[in-house]
Amino acid sequence: MSVIDSALVQIRQLHPYSPGKPVEELERELGIANAIKLASNENPLGCSPRAREELARAVAHVELYPDANAYYLKQRLAQKLGVAVDQITIGNGSNDVLDLVARSFLDGNAEAIYSQYAFMVYAMVTQACGARARVAPALGTDSNQPFGHDLQAMLALVNEKTRLVFIANPNNPTGNWLLQDELQAFLDALPEHIAVVIDEAYFEYVDLAQFPNALHWLARYPNLIVTRTFSKIYGLAGLRIGYAISSPQLCDLFNRVRQPFNGNAIALAAARAALDDDAFVEQSQRVNQQGLQQLRRGFDERGFSYLPSAGNFLTVQFNERSAAIYQGLLQRGVIVRPLANYGLAQFLRISVGTSAQIERLFNALDAPG
Ligand SMILES: Cc1ncc(COP(=O)(O)O)c(C=O)c1O
Repeated sequence: MSVIDSALVQIRQLHPYSPGKPVEELERELGIANAIKLASNENPLGCSPRAREELARAVAHVELYPDANAYYLKQRLAQKLGVAVDQITIGNGSNDVLDLVARSFLDGNAEAIYSQYAFMVYAMVTQACGARARVAPALGTDSNQPFGHDLQAMLALVNEKTRLVFIANPNNPTGNWLLQDELQAFLDALPEHIAVVIDEAYFEYVDLAQFPNALHWLARYPNLIVTRTFSKIYGLAGLRIGYAISSPQLCDLFNRVRQPFNGNAIALAAARAALDDDAFVEQSQRVNQQGLQQLRRGFDERGFSYLPSAGNFLTVQFNERSAAIYQGLLQRGVIVRPLANYGLAQFLRISVGTSAQIERLFNALDAPG
């Protein structure tokens, strides 16, 4: 027996997360410059200039450990979101928070429920804890949210072993969303001892009537955990900073399993400044809506269909041509995201870029050969 054999079975069976291809990697492989990445739902405008200034200031003090309690960031978040400081858990990206939640509720006897095609990390953190994943079949292609979460199917999987439910609103990689009434009916129906994560990584991008802000439900549902991130609209994906908002009691649990310095000093400083820059967020929202329209128009003109999306990406159906189109785009320096690992090989996910980047995408798509 090797040392690998003595590792936990659930860890040996894990599939590592497959990220978007880094720009430098493609440029190195092809010997090209100026590649663009529309593969990881990053903000094409970068980050707030205020955040950039603050992070530069923080770089001057990297010899010091960060504030393990993230005092200033939590103060600012609490003020901005209308919650108490003791309801906030900081994470090294919201993925870290998802992991903290899983580790707080799941073990080899527990079950977690999530939807088919839901964000991949729910499967990873569930499996890493040795818990059983109960995957609810997604809504069908005849639904107005094809491949979206089927809340009734999720409820049907609840049993005495269920400890945790993950919901992404909107979901990545499909872009689907759930509206206020249906989500609230789900929360009403879910037994109170089962924790439920509503992952709002793309919340700030959503521009829809009747879209819920899950923070408003925290007082009513003590089992609710809302996760958000600075990686998307705030443009700080490379710094790794996200957070959860929950009851103080749940927050206290997450803080027990949290690594002491999981929010680095540069990220804490930049995130705090990013929260003050409403103009940057509004500009990012505008550019995203325009970009979504530009993408939809371009794909309409070329006869490709796509899933409804409330986020900063569009999931486009290329059917059996997906892999060839992905490779063709790469050859022309445009990185998008294949979704075969989600069981959605017929689609490619394309993050909203600047207008010039989207034009470049379509030029690459139209290029012969
Ligand atoms: C739905 C969803 N949740 C969470 C995350 C995690 O983001 P981060 O760890 O960068 O905060 C992502 C990132 O793509 C996402 O799409």
